Amino acid sequence: MSTLSGQTVAQFIECYQMGSPFDLDNDRAYQAWREDKLENYPENVEELIIEINDPAALTSAEFNALHALVVKTNMAVYAGNTGRDPEKTIPAKLGEQFDLTELDDNKGADDGVTSLKVVSGQWRGGYIPYTNKPIHWHTDGYYNPLIYQIRALLLHCVSPAEKGGENALLDHEIAYIHLRDTNPDYIEALMASDVMTIPANIMDGKEIRSECTGPVFSVFPDGNLHMRYTARTRSIEWKDDPVTQAAVKTLGEFLESNSPYIYRATLQSGQGLISNNVLHDRSGFDDAGDYKRLLYRLRYYQRIANT
Ligand SMILES: [Fe+2]
Repeated sequence: MSTLSGQTVAQFIECYQMGSPFDLDNDRAYQAWREDKLENYPENVEELIIEINDPAALTSAEFNALHALVVKTNMAVYAGNTGRDPEKTIPAKLGEQFDLTELDDNKGADDGVTSLKVVSGQWRGGYIPYTNKPIHWHTDGYYNPLIYQIRALLLHCVSPAEKGGENALLDHEIAYIHLRDTNPDYIEALMASDVMTIPANIMDGKEIRSECTGPVFSVFPDGNLHMRYTARTRSIEWKDDPVTQAAVKTLGEFLESNSPYIYRATLQSGQGLISNNVLHDRSGFDDAGDYKRLLYRLRYYQRIANT
């Protein structure tokens, strides 16, 4: 199903001839890419939602609609007919249709599909994703070794909370544009290989994840932009120079702004987000009765095919 559309091929060839828009010395390519990117860019979350039937077996029209949105915004929300069906293969099969197969094997994901829900009493209770607390803006796996970066993220909702649990979403390419337009030096600073350090994770005296230093923005060999980021202020070390500090401040202010590019959505049963690991946060929530929040999270080393 993942064939290149004619438009995508034409855009690819044009981009290839012009050079990388993410090269700070190539303003012509950047301006052309920027103009194309922002033209007809969706301005409200409703435009991101595609109604589908079975997420595990998309029709060509459903696939093409989701794919076209991801090409534009790096994300799409599907609204399927599986309701509260807790079958974990539903989102996994959806991902496979976009050639997403290499799941990240993180500590909470027994089969590559992590159940995000309130858990107490186990080690998970010490991690914010397994509580009902808010989570600040981030991209997934920013603490992963650089060779295991998360390029695609899929969230599938089995059950929403009774109240809260909203995600804010921002295309990381829009964050890049905001920063480059504000001051190209910010991009240079955030592309430095030593700009952001996440200290080692030590539990009960044992190191379970080593320190990770790397850039915020990087360009993969396929030419696509990748972002590592967290708005957390503890357990993170930013490079101590004025330009980096100003860039981080500008990005933080943008994420807290009322930009029309920031979408807010509370996934309902049977709905999910498929994305090239865009920036996101989560509001706090309250579970009650039948409304205990359960989301499946799938992290991939691959980007969504042909996007
Ligand atoms: Fe996340």
